[in-house]
Amino acid sequence: MAFGCWVGVFVLLSVWPSVRCSDLPGGAIETACRDRYLLVTTQLSFAGNQPRFEAVDTDGVHPITKQYGSECGYMFSILLLRGHAELRASYFSCHTDNQDDEVFTFSFNLITTAASGVETTYIVNATCFLPLPWSPREVSCEENYMEVSMRSDVSCLSGTTDAWTAALAHSSATSTWQVMFQQEGQQLIPMSFSEARELGYVFHLTQGRLVFRSPYTPRSVMGSINGSVVEVVHPILFSRQRWVVMMVDWIVACSTNEGMYDGAGLVWQTPTLLSPLVSGLSGLESIKFSMGVDGELLDEPITAERGYSLDISDTTVQISVPFNAAGGYRKSFVMDNMYHEFYVVHLYYEQIFLDDCGVETRLRLHRPMNTPLLIQHLSIINQTVLEDRVFTVYLGNLYYDVDLVAVTLNGHNFTILDATKSGRVITMVPRPNSNLHAYILRLPFEDAAVHKLVKRNIYFSMDINYTLVILPQEEPYYYLASVVAQFNDVFPPVFKGICNEKSISFQMDHKPFDYLWEVGVGPYILTTNLAAKRGYIMQNDSKSLTLEVPLFSVGYTYKDINLKQFYGSFEIHSRLPKTLEVKSSLAKACLFQTTEVIVCSTEGVVTVVTDVTLAIPGAEPNGTFLLDSTCRPQETDDTRVLFSFGLHSCGTRVQVDHQHVTYENEINVEHKSQSVNAPVKTRDTASVYSLTFTTGTCGFNVQFSF
Ligand SMILES: *[C@@H]1O[C@H](CO)[C@@H](O)[C@H](O)[C@H]1NC(C)=O
Ligand SMILES: *[C@@H]1O[C@H](CO)[C@@H](O)[C@H](O)[C@H]1NC(C)=O
Ligand SMILES: *[C@@H]1O[C@H](CO)[C@@H](O)[C@H](O)[C@H]1NC(C)=O
Ligand SMILES: *[C@@H]1O[C@H](CO)[C@@H](O)[C@H](O)[C@H]1NC(C)=O
Ligand SMILES: *[C@@H]1O[C@H](CO)[C@@H](O)[C@H](O)[C@H]1NC(C)=O
Ligand SMILES: *[C@@H]1O[C@H](CO)[C@@H](O)[C@H](O)[C@H]1NC(C)=O
Ligand SMILES: *[C@@H]1O[C@H](CO)[C@@H](O)[C@H](O)[C@H]1NC(C)=O
Repeated sequence: MAFGCWVGVFVLLSVWPSVRCSDLPGGAIETACRDRYLLVTTQLSFAGNQPRFEAVDTDGVHPITKQYGSECGYMFSILLLRGHAELRASYFSCHTDNQDDEVFTFSFNLITTAASGVETTYIVNATCFLPLPWSPREVSCEENYMEVSMRSDVSCLSGTTDAWTAALAHSSATSTWQVMFQQEGQQLIPMSFSEARELGYVFHLTQGRLVFRSPYTPRSVMGSINGSVVEVVHPILFSRQRWVVMMVDWIVACSTNEGMYDGAGLVWQTPTLLSPLVSGLSGLESIKFSMGVDGELLDEPITAERGYSLDISDTTVQISVPFNAAGGYRKSFVMDNMYHEFYVVHLYYEQIFLDDCGVETRLRLHRPMNTPLLIQHLSIINQTVLEDRVFTVYLGNLYYDVDLVAVTLNGHNFTILDATKSGRVITMVPRPNSNLHAYILRLPFEDAAVHKLVKRNIYFSMDINYTLVILPQEEPYYYLASVVAQFNDVFPPVFKGICNEKSISFQMDHKPFDYLWEVGVGPYILTTNLAAKRGYIMQNDSKSLTLEVPLFSVGYTYKDINLKQFYGSFEIHSRLPKTLEVKSSLAKACLFQTTEVIVCSTEGVVTVVTDVTLAIPGAEPNGTFLLDSTCRPQETDDTRVLFSFGLHSCGTRVQVDHQHVTYENEINVEHKSQSVNAPVKTRDTASVYSLTFTTGTCGFNVQFSF
């Protein structure tokens, strides 16, 4: 296209040098000749948020305001989603130089306002060579005006009888052109073009065409055709020249239906036959329907590929554009901590029809449509399987432009990277055939971040605060989820106790929740160390734990000791680590044969069973005593004695060194005279046994500090 870019600059404050086209950032201002209008676009990044245009012609400069644009054939809008402002100027717009309805020359000022308030004016000149030949009648339904142009020699025009009558009645008064607007039920009142212009209507005559333009105004007729809203303006021009009354009966009609959102996409409909355009004639035949977006028609294969549809029935044409289809603009953002989105499409529509006389009418229509604000609801699915003992939480319905960046698990913050590094698995799951995806979070119940509550039942709970961001703007929002898992009747580990000849064995089968408890012996936790130190024999594999506690090792208590037997008992328990609350315990008491014993109870009572004849052959157990000779054995048999006495009695000696308190006593035996005749009791004694016992033996500990 022989069309260039002439851009100059002059700054109202005057000092800036002029800028040539090549000095402007790429795409800053662009022009394009479309079928029926010139398109001027300017990037908002360049032009700021409030650019405006003025049309320039030999008469001067004409600011394109909202009102002025709708009367003069200019449509200006700022399209934030697309980041640009655009001006569509009809080839018949007021200040366009028109050569033979074929070459159109435009001149505009683009005025931008910098943040500082300084205004800069750019000159935008463009020339368009008509890309598509005119049809005899052309109707353009712009967003802000209706325009009709007709070849001035079209013969097949008609008028209603009313109009003819009115035209004849008024024609005597004037030989210049007059116009009447026909409205149902209202009298036709003639007015001059300048009177009509004051009402916003523009008529003009080009080389070969008559042009009429009207804003959508309350004065136009709103009608409904087969469920569609149609706006109609019906001017009748007339003039008397000598004996002839010339009359031009015009009509412009546009379907002004709004687009609707039906849950799947945007739908727009229009009557198949826009009957006002028939103007009383019976025949009107539609021969071609096309659609497109952004002011350009598209070929059928492209619209089909994008999923657009154009359904034509006898009464209505219905166009639908699926949500987020190519050609439209979708925007997502956060509001009230929720993902919102909407979708906008600028529909362009063409319909060509023939009337009775075979005169072709081409109708073009711009229709911006948008969905309401849509909220994307996320879904949480609790996929936890109790048996696996892992929280599995599915967060779904996330759009492709949403990323999960962090999670807070019971108040602990993790970025996705941190979480993954520390073994908390977060997996992104695409959903096939959709632009949605999901995340699955897996967290074992044992994880430190999981809250546990152990009562009769065990509750695990986790509050998740997901941090999501919308890309690319990285706008965050949050989503909360809570999961719990409960196990009923979970009991602490249970031990079985078995009595052996010289030990007690305990056995515990491992169960899933054993880790919730610790195994204790007295105040101590059972560990491999403790077992080794005290001589317990511990075996622990994946199935069970066994502990063999040899008789007389630390932790036993003894009861009912006599020369034949005694009870030794050992207690093991499970308790909660934090509270040390004992949840189950087993004190196993076994009957053992008494051979040699030296034990000390927690109350400080020492019990000794020993064979005195091993030290002094022939010694009589009956004749034994302790350091305090009044302390005699409680029980004896042929060889053994059983003493039982308090630590602080029977002459027990106490020795203290840095680490131990040692108690000491002796078992002494009386010697009897061997003489048969004169049995004389002597008090010669021999110490057979020296008993020493430390505090440890006695089952209590004393802290010394010397
Ligand atoms: C643009 O057009 C106007 C009017 O047609 C003309 O006066 C002016 O010189 C042109 N400017 C440039 C830069 O071509
Ligand atoms: C609605 O469509 C039918 C054709 O199905 C047509 O006969 C009828 O005139 C239309 N209604 C209007 C108000 O145009
Ligand atoms: C977690 O994040 C929140 C909000 O970003 C912050 O207030 C809190 O201090 C963070 N906690 C930790 C442990 O980092
Ligand atoms: C979730 O996390 C965000 C950011 O850390 C915080 O602003 C919000 O209050 C949290 N929500 C709850 C319920 O804790
Ligand atoms: C989640 O799933 C677990 C296991 O199926 C179930 O016990 C729990 O009640 C579910 N609901 C919530 C809110 O965690
Ligand atoms: C026994 O082994 C299990 C693992 O098989 C372990 O969790 C447990 O702590 C061990 N118990 C003791 C007392 O060492
Ligand atoms: C020990 O003395 C008791 C009486 O004090 C007597 O009954 C018992 O037979 C004596 N036993 C021996 C072995 O001398």
